[in-house]
Amino acid sequence: MSRMISSGSSLNRRSLLLGTAGLVTAASAFRFPTPAIAQGAPLKVGFMLPYSGTFAKLGKFIDDGFRLYVEQQGGALGGRRIEFVQVDDESKPETATDNMNRLVGREKVDVVVGTVHSGVAMAMVKVARDTNTMLVIPNAGVNEATGPMCAPNIFRTSFSNWQVCEPLGKVMFDAGHRKVATITWRYAAGQQMVGAFGEGFKKVGGTVIEDLALPFPEVEFQALITRIATLKPDAVFAFFAGGGAVKFVKDYAAAGLNKSIPLYGAGFLTDGTIPAQGESANGLRTTLHYADDLDNPANRKFLADFKAKTGADGDIYAVQGYDAGALLHEGLKAVKGDWSARNDVVRSMRAARIDSPRGPLSFNAAGNPIQNIYLREVRNGRNELVSIAGQAVNDPARGCRVS
Ligand code: BEZ
Repeated sequence: MSRMISSGSSLNRRSLLLGTAGLVTAASAFRFPTPAIAQGAPLKVGFMLPYSGTFAKLGKFIDDGFRLYVEQQGGALGGRRIEFVQVDDESKPETATDNMNRLVGREKVDVVVGTVHSGVAMAMVKVARDTNTMLVIPNAGVNEATGPMCAPNIFRTSFSNWQVCEPLGKVMFDAGHRKVATITWRYAAGQQMVGAFGEGFKKVGGTVIEDLALPFPEVEFQALITRIATLKPDAVFAFFAGGGAVKFVKDYAAAGLNKSIPLYGAGFLTDGTIPAQGESANGLRTTLHYADDLDNPANRKFLADFKAKTGADGDIYAVQGYDAGALLHEGLKAVKGDWSARNDVVRSMRAARIDSPRGPLSFNAAGNPIQNIYLREVRNGRNELVSIAGQAVNDPARGCRVS
């Protein structure tokens, strides 16, 4: 069951407001939102994130990262105070349209920040387009959001599914692997990441011998791990994240396959998960737009402040939330907090150049980040930088007509 939680600019006050009864059920049930944009009134940011289920920790870290950025600015962006409303989307595409309509239509938020799951994000993108609501995606990589469904009011501070996985094809080929099996959840993110990895791997001469998948968010991996042992590929590419990634990496090691068939993946396989994976994660190589030990001042400050605020080590999800705050700040700074000048807000956000903990961050015309993709290896309980697998990687934004 979806939950709406509200917290004002007093950052510690969180209370359960509503159940699912009485939801606005269709975009057509309201016209364009009429948010609280009077100067002086706080800008209302709606977090639509998973606060429960296999991606719960990811949602919390995005939320914490965004709030940290706002706190560092004294609680206001461009002079405009920020107020928060949260909805738990539970990573369920089937309730996503209702949840998004509730934030836009009933809560009258000015900006929606969400979400993690690609299928949920697709529903959010549709509502954002229909209602011209500003949407900042702080994780979900679904290619269409900054591809055929791109729009001036849609931004992403994370990655496209293509972007993080295509460079891994060459990395694995260069490591001597020629025949690879893939494994993932059967939904948009998994299928697109497997497709992008395959594109990069085949381009340099590799062969994908079998694609294995199970429904999201199932974690009964045993039959597929047995299949991998039978296939004996040179290596395996995997996409799992959150609780599913913890269990997969542990099960793979428990089956002894980590000794004979090297496991690689999109960096979500080991980001935010290493404490729970323990030794089974050691040595895993992945590609992502972040590494824990990136040695730049922005990352050092981010990690120190995040630890001080939450007691936890920052990860890619926290960085993406933090940068969503930074991106909104760019827009609001340009108009001195005047949200009614939204075209100028959008223009400034598209042109933003952010000194991110991940390194230089800018945006293409479709609103997707242009950023480095790093090869990392799990050592010393963290994802340590090995090399840059792709410099300033720009998603091709296939099908996007915004220029
Ligand atoms: C996705 O569904 O797009 C996704 C979920 C978790 C980590 C990365 C991507």
